[in-house]
Amino acid sequence: MNSNVLKVKDDVHWIGVLDKDLVTFDVVMETKYGTTYNSYFINADKKAIIETTKEKFWVDYEANIRAMTDPSGIDYIILNHTEPDHSGNLKNLVALAPHAKVVASPNAIRYLKDLFKGEDFNYMPVKDGDTLDLGNKTLRFISAPNLHWPDSMYTYLEEDKVLFSCDSFGAHYCDEKMFDDQVDEDKFDDAFKYYFDVILKPFSKFMLKAIQKLDGLEIDAICHGHGPILRSKWKKYMDLSEKWAEEFVKQPSRQRVFIPYVSAYDKTGMLAKKIAEGVQAAGDVEAKTMDIEMVSMGEMEEEIVKATGIIVGSPTINQNILPPIYKLFGMLTPLRDKNKLAGGFGSYGWSGEARTLIKNGLTSLKMSYFEDGAFVKFSPDGNDLEESFEYGKAFAQKLLN
Ligand code: FEO
Repeated sequence: MNSNVLKVKDDVHWIGVLDKDLVTFDVVMETKYGTTYNSYFINADKKAIIETTKEKFWVDYEANIRAMTDPSGIDYIILNHTEPDHSGNLKNLVALAPHAKVVASPNAIRYLKDLFKGEDFNYMPVKDGDTLDLGNKTLRFISAPNLHWPDSMYTYLEEDKVLFSCDSFGAHYCDEKMFDDQVDEDKFDDAFKYYFDVILKPFSKFMLKAIQKLDGLEIDAICHGHGPILRSKWKKYMDLSEKWAEEFVKQPSRQRVFIPYVSAYDKTGMLAKKIAEGVQAAGDVEAKTMDIEMVSMGEMEEEIVKATGIIVGSPTINQNILPPIYKLFGMLTPLRDKNKLAGGFGSYGWSGEARTLIKNGLTSLKMSYFEDGAFVKFSPDGNDLEESFEYGKAFAQKLLN
């Protein structure tokens, strides 16, 4: 197996792997530009590796490590968070580097104990401001919780002015050139914005705190978890992250109701439109209907993130709701969407199981279920449409209150 490593600084090399063909990340996030799993080797008196890679790339990853050093001599493995796209090869690496200490936040060490399932491993929890002496170089740890896992932190290599920033400031973008000044800027910008919106924006409050902590730090390069390393334009991407996070945090507290639905004969669609009219009639509340049969996960995700309330519509077919609705449920996350006001509606022929299935789906996802909207046999009549209008209005009034 050929190795593929890149010099970031004389003593810092990228030893990660490319995943060009990835179509979705974590099953739900589209990755039209593929991705990379970034890992770095620091050649100091004490040898350190920052992050590992997704497990299935072990063969390539091992070749990259061996191109830089004899793995048995590695002293430290630093994990900035424990999501498996970065911790996936930790056990494989520890098997080759039995003396290495795994360095991570206290939360991450807790998760790693679960990962190691009771097996012994050397570890060292580190807190905000702690330093690690590598002999001729120094690592400093910067706590960055909830970016985007509770265990996240950044690691700063003082002598080389390199910030290893976990998933922050990264993007799912695969190009073997691997540096911000060598890739197509427009496409990378597109990937960067999408990554920020889906992964980091919900944690904007934490992003702003982390960026504040970085204020005044001398930076030559930002080595994050995915996509091209930022060296010439790191400031642009940090400023963009700060701007988007500020916009998200300061956005006027305008309520916004997302009304995703599917509709075989536009009966459920008719109800959706009436509910939206009712929502808007309640006052300063935005309503967005979307037939989700054909929309991309990215489009759906964008609406879910913005919504303060969600009303889901589905016909009942063969005593079940339809696959796009299950896909929608798969994209709702209690961590982000918990307690958002929710409701349901739909039309049906012989039986109306959608009523229960939608309610159960939303409540299991910890959303706050308002009440059922109209569940209508066959075509909605004037009363059903009036009921839907009033339902939308009442839903929005509840949000405003
Ligand atoms: Fe790239 Fe949160 O893992």
